[in-house]
Amino acid sequence: MKKPRLSLVTFAAATAIAVAAVGSSVFAHGNILPQPVNTSALPDIGEAWLQHNPYRGNAVAIKIGESAYGQNCARCHGLEAISGGIAPDLRYLELGDTGDEWFIQRYQHGSVRDGKVYMPPLGDVLGQKAGWAIRAWLDTKHEE
Ligand code: HEC
Repeated sequence: MKKPRLSLVTFAAATAIAVAAVGSSVFAHGNILPQPVNTSALPDIGEAWLQHNPYRGNAVAIKIGESAYGQNCARCHGLEAISGGIAPDLRYLELGDTGDEWFIQRYQHGSVRDGKVYMPPLGDVLGQKAGWAIRAWLDTKHEE
């Protein structure tokens, strides 16, 4: 029975390494604790997730979004939304409804592929008002 036990240990070690690797892929980008965003100045939009930005072009939302982005997204997506290469450059997100849908899907659920966390889900922790405010600011940085 020595052999099976050994391989079990090997398996456990491999799993531990795999888990550590997933962990470090998230923590490699520094502090991942989401910073709360004060959105009390924005009109309420309810609990149900919208698919299109209710704050598009809203100057107050743009301002809140800029700071929320700096605190929660810039460490991966780059200052001023100019990516340094570790995550997509969000200036090129499509404008309008289709872009909104893709944006909010990623914001809400993040991105996990093959068990690896590329982007953590942020919707529940930051809330949808903050998400749409960030999207409103990103619109102002848009490039084709
Ligand atoms: C830990 C790093 C990290 C943080 C923090 C992060 N992202 Fe991401 N994000 C990524 C990565 C990596 C991808 C690419 C995912 C993939 O390829 O599946 C991504 C993808 C996206 C996309 C899709 C882009 C595209 O071109 O398809 C959007 C939109 C997005 N992130 C928005 C945000 C917003 C808004 C925030 C802050 C609230 C944020 N992300 C915070 C790493 C991060």
